[in-house]
Amino acid sequence: MQKNLFSVEGKTICVTGASSGIGRAVSTMLCEAGANVIAVARRADALQQWKDEAVGNAEIVAADLSDIDTLPDLALDICKPFGPVDVLINAAGLNTRQHADAVTFEGWRNTLDINLNAPFFLAQSLVPMMKEKGWGRIINFGSLQSRRAFANGIAYGASKGGVDQLTRAMAEAWSKDGITANALAPGFFPTELTAPVFGDSELADKNANQTCIGRNGTMDDLTGPVLFLCSDASNYVTGQMLYVDGGFTAK
Ligand SMILES: NC(=O)c1ccc[n+]([C@@H]2O[C@H](COP(=O)([O-])OP(=O)(O)OC[C@H]3O[C@@H](n4cnc5c(N)ncnc54)[C@H](OP(=O)(O)O)[C@@H]3O)[C@@H](O)[C@H]2O)c1
Repeated sequence: MQKNLFSVEGKTICVTGASSGIGRAVSTMLCEAGANVIAVARRADALQQWKDEAVGNAEIVAADLSDIDTLPDLALDICKPFGPVDVLINAAGLNTRQHADAVTFEGWRNTLDINLNAPFFLAQSLVPMMKEKGWGRIINFGSLQSRRAFANGIAYGASKGGVDQLTRAMAEAWSKDGITANALAPGFFPTELTAPVFGDSELADKNANQTCIGRNGTMDDLTGPVLFLCSDASNYVTGQMLYVDGGFTAK
């Protein structure tokens, strides 16, 4: 068996949404695992705080991913600190939680821009460099709402359903060049995004009880799945969405 099948040592990995929640936790873990990590989000102060605390090779790029026209230039900035990236993790996300009757065009467009449009166009700008290496990994973030409808989730659900198909389409387009595309679909993990859910203990308990395992997620639950998808361990896995949800969608 190949040694260090799950190694990310020396890999250059860009993580969007790294100022908070899942993106931040994943960035920290990947740094500790020996990757060169470029953390991207809007809040420069939060990114700097992450960098100050990170153990390993960490760099930051503050940018607004909703500014789709700027993504080709952003891709060049992302590649400045450590060279062309090997892995893109699209973890930035937004949920406006507007009811279908109240959803605004602005809210809809912003949700689609962050959750669906930016992951594609940032990947499109980074893929030529991955093609040159003949190796690359794209990891998108789906959701329970990639598959299920939740209250006040019409824009978020539409975007995350889109991520499911985007992931398959990316795999179809780029896997022959050595670039796999997969997605992680977390269950309920406590972050800024899910503060309204975890702020309601009855709702949080209800979600925990809906899982097969009987609890909501913790950041450590994502370590194995992320290392798997970033490394050679997942060489023959592409176009898939892996639910890290304690069995929420199994029931
Ligand atoms: N937490 C969960 O239970 C859960 C469940 C299913 C799926 N997910 C998905 O997992 C991913 C991470 O979510 P999370 O829970 O960690 O959310 P979070 O804590 O709210 O983090 C969201 C991140 O996205 C960044 N972001 C938002 N708008 C941006 C923009 N315009 N430009 C650049 N960055 C932007 C934020 O940074 P700035 O504000 O600094 O820009 C922040 O770093 C998302 O795709 C989410 O949909 C999460």
